[in-house]
Amino acid sequence: MSFQIALNFEDGITRFINAEGHETVADAAYRQGINIPLDCRDGACGTCKCKAEAGSYALGEDFIEDALSTEEISQGFVLTCQMRAESDCVLRIPASSQLCKAEQGSFQAEISDVRQLSASTIALSIKGEALSSLAFLPGQYVNLQVPGSGQSRAYSFSSLPKDGEVSFLIRNVPGGLMSSFLTSLAKAGDSMSLAGPLGSFYLRPIQRPLLLLAGGTGLAPFTAMLEKIADVGSAHPLHLIYGVTNDFDLVELDRLQALAARISNFTYSACVANPDSKYPQKGYVTQHIEPAHLNNGDVDVYLCGPPPMVEAVSQYIREQGITPANFYYEKFAAAA
Ligand SMILES: Cc1cc2nc3c(=O)[nH]c(=O)nc-3n(C[C@H](O)[C@H](O)[C@H](O)COP(=O)(O)OP(=O)(O)OC[C@H]3O[C@@H](n4cnc5c(N)ncnc54)[C@H](O)[C@@H]3O)c2cc1C
Ligand code: FES
Repeated sequence: MSFQIALNFEDGITRFINAEGHETVADAAYRQGINIPLDCRDGACGTCKCKAEAGSYALGEDFIEDALSTEEISQGFVLTCQMRAESDCVLRIPASSQLCKAEQGSFQAEISDVRQLSASTIALSIKGEALSSLAFLPGQYVNLQVPGSGQSRAYSFSSLPKDGEVSFLIRNVPGGLMSSFLTSLAKAGDSMSLAGPLGSFYLRPIQRPLLLLAGGTGLAPFTAMLEKIADVGSAHPLHLIYGVTNDFDLVELDRLQALAARISNFTYSACVANPDSKYPQKGYVTQHIEPAHLNNGDVDVYLCGPPPMVEAVSQYIREQGITPANFYYEKFAAAA
């Protein structure tokens, strides 16, 4: 039986490999041209140690405590020269993709749909034969090349891949390179190239309640995560707070509604910061975080949006004197 293993390198690049149940993950990676750091291959040196963030696996029996201690096992560490996958897995490799000769994936696709959802927000879908082999973890992003410019911009996937098609939710930054291309030139059928997937902001196994905090188009990775959760379910409650600046920034509410209908323990609210807003819930995301959402710290917080919003929310959570069990964030920083 074959399983899909996501290898997340320390430079943010992710590569997916297939591992047969009978082979070690290091052998599977090597077979597919990726050299995970290895030395003894015998469970003695610990060089191939990685953190398993998701999935089930057999650790192997031929390793010594010096290479992998009981405490490390309890923290999810594995030796890839010994480990055999028993399901799809996600591994963090403590080395760069370059060192492991794992080149970033690059793909050619074409625009299947580009639409302004509002003055400030663009929905983009791209599709193509090549995308049928594109795999990513929900929450990750790619670098999309702006046609004709030689420059790229980072965008989080807002959907899971389906029939070779993926989608994005993009803020229309006045005068911005990608924004101008998408609002004035782009049309269905135009070619676009993308490189990735990338990033460490992705959905981990759900082991406690989740609080999801989105600012503006920072909603994108959450719709991808929620699509995944709708497929697999969640034993724990999930709450999303989606904050924007102006009424016209508020998009995809019907999609959130549809996701809430599919995920029984998912709730969400939205708020608009502009005091002149006609939306019933006003203010910043932080004004809508209730103590129950933070669950005395037994919560995994995921936060995504423009850098000032991410900083303000991070600071707010620190000020509550609560340290979430896990805190993951992505800043939609502008390209240098
Ligand atoms: C990991 C990652 C994931 C991202 N995912 C998304 C996503 O899913 N959706 C999305 O909309 N964006 C996302 N971004 C931001 C995105 O990559 C671009 O920076 C943004 O779309 C602007 O690109 P542009 O070419 O239109 O503007 P640019 O030509 O890059 O910028 C034009 C001018 O506007 C300024 N500017 C750029 N962005 C902003 C902003 N947000 N607010 C105010 N001024 C700005 C720039 O400093 C520059 O002066 C992500 C960024 C990162 C790092
Ligand atoms: S390579 Fe030495 S323990 Fe795996």
